[in-house]
Amino acid sequence: MSAEAVAEKVVIELDHPIVRDKLAALRDRNTDVPNFRRLANELALLVAYEATRGLETEPVEIDTPLERMEARKIRADKVVLVPVLRAGLGMLDGALQLLPHAPVGFIGVYREEEALRPVPYFLKLPAGVEQRDVLLLDPMVATGGSAAYAVRMCKQAGARRVALAALISAPEGLARVHADYPEVPIFTAAIDRELNENGFILPGLGDAGDRLLGTQ
Ligand code: PRP
Repeated sequence: MSAEAVAEKVVIELDHPIVRDKLAALRDRNTDVPNFRRLANELALLVAYEATRGLETEPVEIDTPLERMEARKIRADKVVLVPVLRAGLGMLDGALQLLPHAPVGFIGVYREEEALRPVPYFLKLPAGVEQRDVLLLDPMVATGGSAAYAVRMCKQAGARRVALAALISAPEGLARVHADYPEVPIFTAAIDRELNENGFILPGLGDAGDRLLGTQ
């Protein structure tokens, strides 16, 4: 969430061989549930690392074994992590490894299968969200409807700034989120080719929630 990132319509696709390698395993239909879960969290950590590049730091005096110095620490409690249920849960542990003190909220929304519209069913954002930035966690941005709804909930709650961390995004979904919220930076491990007629990302990885939770 750097100054440049909040400018307008920022999409950051992670370009790194480690990310490509983990994505290859994550996408593979033969990857089992425990490994899918591990890879999703590992990738979430890397996406969150990029998404937090612009976090503010504050000076702190520390003693090294040799001398006193002024170091810098982040104010991790200034960022709220908000997984979009269910599949966003698969990114939470990874993001919490970077920001273990971050408060956590939840947005429950699923996409109904006919018109692919988001259907909300749960909302719990922490008190004090209006003094904080929100990092939304959702592995898939397909039509973008769920992500746009989640951004709207955070804005209505008064969040200072909102950013989105995803694993795989479709160009259509990125455009949809930015049509409504051009100021929201989107960090994604990959931008895939397109959506199919059922709203699935191609080549994608299938249904992230089902693969993560073993509910296929
Ligand atoms: C998936 C995914 C996103 C959403 C993306 O969730 O995790 O939240 O769909 O689609 P969209 O961009 O077209 O809205 P799903 O509705 O399958 O629910 P789940 O996470 O509970 O499996």
